[in-house]
Amino acid sequence: MSAHDFILPLFVSEKLEGRRPVASMPGVFQFSLKEIVGEAQRTQDLGLQAVLLFGIPERKDERASAAYAESGIVQKALGAIKSKCPALVTITDVCLCEYMSHGHCGITRIDGDHFHVLNDETVELLVKTALSHAAAGADMVAPSDMMDGRIGAIREALDAAGFDQTGIRSYAAKFASAFYGPFRDAAESPPQFGDRRSYQMDYANAEEALREVALDIDEGADVVMVKPALPYIDILWRVRERFGKPTAVYHVSGEYAMVKAAADKGIVEERAAVLEIMTALKRAGADIIVTYWARELAEWIRK
Ligand code: PBG
Repeated sequence: MSAHDFILPLFVSEKLEGRRPVASMPGVFQFSLKEIVGEAQRTQDLGLQAVLLFGIPERKDERASAAYAESGIVQKALGAIKSKCPALVTITDVCLCEYMSHGHCGITRIDGDHFHVLNDETVELLVKTALSHAAAGADMVAPSDMMDGRIGAIREALDAAGFDQTGIRSYAAKFASAFYGPFRDAAESPPQFGDRRSYQMDYANAEEALREVALDIDEGADVVMVKPALPYIDILWRVRERFGKPTAVYHVSGEYAMVKAAADKGIVEERAAVLEIMTALKRAGADIIVTYWARELAEWIRK
C-alpha cells in the first residue's frame, strides 16, 4: 500500500466559523471555508494526492440551487484550495441530497402516499452542478446520486464546455445501505420521508451492479466505484476482473464508525484492524480507496 491509494473525504460547511466534530464519526469534522484550505494543505503534506469534497450549504430548497450556484460552498472551496495547493487532486461529490430541503438525491414528486424521483429532470441539475464544479477548478467530478444516464450527460456537457480534461469517477455500483447513517449526520442530508431504495441498488442483486458499471463505462466514466466496501468485496472483485477499469471503493461512514466504536471500547485494535481492512480491499482489486482514515494510513505507512 502507499499513500497514493487513499482519498480523504472532507466536509466544508457554509454555516460554520471554525470546525464542528461529527458526533457519530470520531475524528471527522465539518470545516469552514477558511479552515478547509489548511486541512487540504495538511492532507497534501502527509503525502496524499487527492481529496473528495462534500458541501453543506446555508440554505436548502426543492431545486437544490446551492449545488450549482457559482458562489456555492464547494465552488468557493475549490477556488481557495486550488490557489493554495494547485497540485492536490480535487474530486467533488456531485449529488443533490445535501442541497435539497427533503434530503433526496433528486427532484421528487409526491403522489398520494408514494413519491417518485424524477430521473431526467434531476440529471439536468446534476449536469449543472458538475459544470459549475469543473469551472471552479475540480479535477474530477464524482456523481453519487445513482440517476440513470447521468454519466453520459455530464461527459457530453463537460466536453462541450471545454472541460474535456475533467475526469468522472462514478459511483457506479452504489447500494442502498444501512452503513450511510453517520454520513447523513456529517452532511446533514437524511431523507425527510421515504428512503433511497428507488434509486440506490438492492444489495441482494449482484448482476444489476455489473450492469450499472457497464453502463457507466459505456457512458464515459474514467473510474468506477463500488460502495460500501467490506460487505461488497465480491462485487469489487467482479468489477475489477470483468472490466479492468480503474476501480475505486468507498469504505463508508458506518463501516468507519463501527471500528471506531469497537476500538473505543478496547474490543479491537484500531490500527491493526484498519490495515487489515485496507489490505483486503486492495487484495480484492481496489486501485483507489476512499476512507476517513486516509491521513492516519499515510502516517502509518510512512512509519
Ligand atoms: C450522497 C452520498 C452519500 C454518501 C456519499 N455520497 C449518502 C447517501 O447516499 O445517503 C455516503 C458516504 C458514507 O457513508 O461515508 N448521495
